[in-house]
Amino acid sequence: MSNKQESPSTVDKKAGTTERFSSAGFILAAIGSSVGLGNMWKFTYVTGQNGGGAFFLLFIACLLIVGLPVLMGELAVGRAGRGDAVISFSKLSGKKWWGALGFVSVVAAFLVMTFYSTIAGWTLHYAVQSISGALFESTDYQAVYDTFTASTAPIWWQIAIFIITGIVIAKGISSGIEKFNKIVIPGLLIILVIMLVRTLTLDGAAEGIRYFLYPDFSQLTFTSALEALGLAFFSLSLGMGAMLTYGAYVEKHQSLSAATLAVGAGDLAYALIAGLIIFPTTFTFGIAPNSGPGLVFVALPAAFAAMPFGNLFGGLFFILLAIAAITSCLALIEVPVAYLMRKYGHGRTKATVFVMIAMYVLALPVTLAAGGALSDVTFAGRNLFDWLDFVTSNIMLPLGGLFVTILVGFVWKGAGEETGMKGWWLKAWLFSMRYIAPILIVLIFLKYAGII
Ligand code: PHE
Repeated sequence: MSNKQESPSTVDKKAGTTERFSSAGFILAAIGSSVGLGNMWKFTYVTGQNGGGAFFLLFIACLLIVGLPVLMGELAVGRAGRGDAVISFSKLSGKKWWGALGFVSVVAAFLVMTFYSTIAGWTLHYAVQSISGALFESTDYQAVYDTFTASTAPIWWQIAIFIITGIVIAKGISSGIEKFNKIVIPGLLIILVIMLVRTLTLDGAAEGIRYFLYPDFSQLTFTSALEALGLAFFSLSLGMGAMLTYGAYVEKHQSLSAATLAVGAGDLAYALIAGLIIFPTTFTFGIAPNSGPGLVFVALPAAFAAMPFGNLFGGLFFILLAIAAITSCLALIEVPVAYLMRKYGHGRTKATVFVMIAMYVLALPVTLAAGGALSDVTFAGRNLFDWLDFVTSNIMLPLGGLFVTILVGFVWKGAGEETGMKGWWLKAWLFSMRYIAPILIVLIFLKYAGII
């Protein structure tokens, strides 16, 4: 199974992984990981539910005050540990049991992929249906969505996502993940700009922009603040070992603070553009911005149908979503693949095949639970899809983030040196890692657990 280039020798027992990104390749791959369904699908509907502009400001604050420091922490842990979440945690803490805490992230990434790939598959289907025009044959988009998710089609689209991502991962860091991101991320930007020009020239653009960018603080609640923080975490791919694992492939001379700023700016720019695409569209076509998770799949087709060349713009929009989702899937899959490679000395191809098969065994029932045959099989009010979404986003992700802050803030003494930061910046970073980030994470955790 193993091919020559990606043999087990990519892991050196002492030095850790020997695979490396180029500087630009790493930035693009990390932006690819962070920009995904979280920005376009989740960010827009959550912003819509929380009243628009003021929530966007909160999101930016969370990104700057907590998200970026934790991102830098994950990258530093990854690069210094040169391993997966488990190895890096135990190596830097000097205690083997810390590896078990890192393992939470490996499991989280594995589980997130099972439902993230379901939605990624939907986006591929919607892209094809939109371009062919089939999507617009009916005007009842809720019914279209229900029929599609209840059919067996999502299974095949999900398999397509698995095959595409599996091939890229098996090719390795520089000739797989880096190369793929280098091709598609600029493409993504081009599609975004085309979509932006289209939506900013719609009749309702001014109203949509006002809703999205003009802050009305009366709309905010305590829950909004927690949601903004959770979203900042998910959107920056934190707490699941993804940035940590990518960090292991970064060259020593690359500046981690510059990388952190670049990824933060990329993620924020993408969220901003996503909002500037979605809200003018919803206001122009009379769709409620707070219509919930179906906003992208149910509400937007109606808007595309009413637009000149709607099938083309709809197709572009869903291709954009699919690309963004696939580059995030790459980061999610790399977490358990990296773990298997280090743990069992498997070659990359073998580890990838193994992870993909194991993931698919769980991903299939998850897809069937998302509107299909298993959607009514519930346990304590949630089906399998809902459970995985709930447990990973609300429990495992904050926990994974919390462990990183404790490791960096209190346990591992070399964190400051690894980042290369000095003086005031270093102090501010450590202060956030020690006090601000963990306290806020615990708050989200307690909130979602229903304790506060
Ligand atoms: N950040 C991605 C998004 O916004 C989701 C993700 C989380 C990807 C964790 C990789 C790892 O959609």
